[in-house]
Amino acid sequence: MMRRKLVAGNWKMHGLKADLGEVRAIAAAVPAEVDAALCVPFTLIAGAADAAGALPIGAQDVHQSDKGAHTGCISAAMLVEAGALLTIVGHSERRADQHETDAQVKAKAEAAQKAGLRVILCIGETLEERDAGLAEQVVTGQVAASLPDGASADWLALAYEPVWAIGTGRTPTEADVAAMHGAIRAKLRELIGDEAERVQILYGGSVNGSNAVALLGCEDVDGALVGGASLTAEKFVPIIEAAASLSR
Ligand code: PGA
Repeated sequence: MMRRKLVAGNWKMHGLKADLGEVRAIAAAVPAEVDAALCVPFTLIAGAADAAGALPIGAQDVHQSDKGAHTGCISAAMLVEAGALLTIVGHSERRADQHETDAQVKAKAEAAQKAGLRVILCIGETLEERDAGLAEQVVTGQVAASLPDGASADWLALAYEPVWAIGTGRTPTEADVAAMHGAIRAKLRELIGDEAERVQILYGGSVNGSNAVALLGCEDVDGALVGGASLTAEKFVPIIEAAASLSR
């Protein structure tokens, strides 16, 4: 099954209006063979959506409730109104810093879908879990517990991001990446049958212009979720180009 590659940037808590020029430059450089997206801070969504043309702009989190007394939180309808077409849910930094559980991540994904957003749902093991030989068990457990009801490739992608590879410059071996992505797909098959073949499974964690071809060329890797190297066109476009070169 030939799945299109998706390269998504995660700007995390970076980006002011002065950086919208990077959004424009990135948007102008996406070849037809690949899908790309940029998940920016809430405050930049509207401006980035205006600047981005055909490049989808997304958020990095969404609240699971439609509305209510949740100070500081953002609903899916608010994201849509601001111009977002997608959102990340369950990033390991939120699972760690905001103590988000699999059940909350699942509810967030379902709320996003209900409002018409696409979803990138993140999973990944810590170094302690990998060293203890538990990586596959932890990650497939996260898939089972956080996969939204009605999960479909029409609106859902997964991102495997080993916590120890995020922002560290360290990456798993290609064999480890392929093995984990295979295990994730097998778990998806158990849960949603043939639809599993259509779901994009992205790799994330220290992806850059130099390692992108190797990582995105691994079996069952359908794209990348990129943090630090997505902040400028100079760093991000080579990753998008790498994905495109594998799709030609
Ligand atoms: P990184 O972050 O590319 O800076 O390692 C990836 C992510 O956290 O999505």
